[in-house]
Amino acid sequence: MDSIGPIPLHVGLIMDGNGRWAEQRGKPRLYGHRRGAENVRRIVTHAQSLGIRFLTLYAFSLENNQRPAAEVNGLLSLFELYARRWLSQLLEQGIRIHLIGDVEALRPSTARALRKLEDETQKGEQMTVILAANYGGRDEVLRAMRRFWQSGATKGPSRWEDFEKFLDTAGIPDPDLILRSSGEMRLSHFLPLQSVYSELYFPSVLWPDFSERDLDEAVAVYRRRRRRFGRLGGREMSE
Ligand code: FPP
Repeated sequence: MDSIGPIPLHVGLIMDGNGRWAEQRGKPRLYGHRRGAENVRRIVTHAQSLGIRFLTLYAFSLENNQRPAAEVNGLLSLFELYARRWLSQLLEQGIRIHLIGDVEALRPSTARALRKLEDETQKGEQMTVILAANYGGRDEVLRAMRRFWQSGATKGPSRWEDFEKFLDTAGIPDPDLILRSSGEMRLSHFLPLQSVYSELYFPSVLWPDFSERDLDEAVAVYRRRRRRFGRLGGREMSE
């Protein structure tokens, strides 16, 4: 009989489909982003109740800057608004926010609001929510390389452990499961170095409609997978 594995320690969420969700209703794209942002809180709360300890949310990619200015500004305003609205709940739930991406290159009011959220939730010990904001996978590598050489290194790293501590995700375990809503099947620069052994899952539901049940289903699918990490043998080798 098939055995069931542990729940994922770290889940990555690519929250796709806000625009299509709005367009299907004859509404502006920002309406979809607002509904998407409202959905974030309930999914984070549910992830915490399932025992997921790390949840990475792809909030804004570097490439998203190339959208029309009105959409970019609308999204950044949403981050500022939700950063304020979310704070008391995060503190209550013991959730720490950790930012990844080139946050300081965002407009100053957004960078300030996100850094404030990160600072004020530092003591949260129940769960870590990693917000990818102005994040791109290759950009993270370039920034990590600069930090590596600025650290005074005189020769290149020979072990992965010597380099990964310069990544934005230093100290955070690799994602066990990455899911992208809306049926698109690609990672779009999401944690390329950290996802080498992640299980992937692509439900067709659009992000504003993504529900607690959809997360339950993703976790159930994950628990039935056999992870081998390139070796022979079964799930027992990954535990
Ligand atoms: C992709 O949908 C979604 C985004 C580019 C933004 C994701 C951001 C949120 C859900 C808000 C997050 C808020 C907080 C507080 C973290 P899309 O516009 O690419 O949709 P489409 O593919 O249907 O056009």
